[in-house]
Amino acid sequence: MSDVEQTLGRIAAAGDLQALDAARVEALGKNGWVTALLKTLGGMTPDERQVRGPEIQGVRARVTEAIAERKEQLVSAELERRLATERLDLSLPAPERPQGTVHPVSQVMDELAEIFADLGFAVAEGPEIETDWYNFTALNMPESHPARAMHDTFYCEPRDGEPARVLRTHTSPVQIRAMEKHGAPLRVIAPGRVYRSDSDATHTPMFHQVEGIVIDRAIHLGHLKWTLETFLKAFFERDDIAIRMRPSYFPFTEPSAEVDVGWSMEKGRRVVGGQEGWMEVLGSGMVHPRVIAAAGLDPNEWQGFAFGTGIDRLAMLKYGMNDLRQFFDGDIRWLKHYGFAALAIPTLSAGVGA
Ligand code: PHE
Repeated sequence: MSDVEQTLGRIAAAGDLQALDAARVEALGKNGWVTALLKTLGGMTPDERQVRGPEIQGVRARVTEAIAERKEQLVSAELERRLATERLDLSLPAPERPQGTVHPVSQVMDELAEIFADLGFAVAEGPEIETDWYNFTALNMPESHPARAMHDTFYCEPRDGEPARVLRTHTSPVQIRAMEKHGAPLRVIAPGRVYRSDSDATHTPMFHQVEGIVIDRAIHLGHLKWTLETFLKAFFERDDIAIRMRPSYFPFTEPSAEVDVGWSMEKGRRVVGGQEGWMEVLGSGMVHPRVIAAAGLDPNEWQGFAFGTGIDRLAMLKYGMNDLRQFFDGDIRWLKHYGFAALAIPTLSAGVGA
């Protein structure tokens, strides 16, 4: 039976499926030697067959088993080889520093929240699709009021049975909503998106404002001035901030004042601080008694001041951008250049913009 040993040896030595199949054909194929042995069974006497039959079947079984075993080895070796050579390296080298940055508008909103929280203001919100009532009427701008025309309003298609809606043109409607919701006394800021149909280097159809409102007893213009001065010093991180209040007009404040901040030239750039010139940064005033009444409070008991300013404009002044449109272009280079590290959260003690 050295034929068996030889065949088993060949099966064990088969380096691939082809060689294995050749060994199989040699033994179990049509002209294979095991097949030939099996054929001899037919010519045997029953006694002979009883002895040789199990022997020959045993040979066939050993060979068949050896082939199956070797085949499994070869198939899994082949799989291993393919897995090893076809491996895709899905890992990426770690970036040297974090890639994403915080948008200057988000950064400035965080700075505002931090500064005003220190002065006892909470943050309030309102919807961007606002009713005509909150955006205009409750703010002492009834339907025929000429000030409405100054807002370049986006109007929503009116729907039957629903109040007329606009994209809010300023954050002032949140004054009304905050008074309705929280009553008095009240101290909130309301940052958020506002919309006006206007577009050039300093105007985009969507931009950001922050509103501030304080309602309490015996509030006067002095509180407004101190608050704005304190805010601007903290925001621009300079003590030499000078402000100038000019009489102005807003339907929802009486008296009203526009607030200018002093600037000076530093290294060929105009920066906030000093008093070489003035630029307007805020609208403000004492909340009109009609506005307080529209929000359901008694104006004989409660007074207050309010102010509003552009967040994007504050960011431009503090961080030196000059084209507002780039704020909203989503250009990754601009964001990398002007963006802020994600974990550099503004704090007053570290200097809010640090
Ligand atoms: N809402 C005014 C604007 O959009 C700003 C403002 C707010 C003025 C609060 C006075 C008081 O221009």
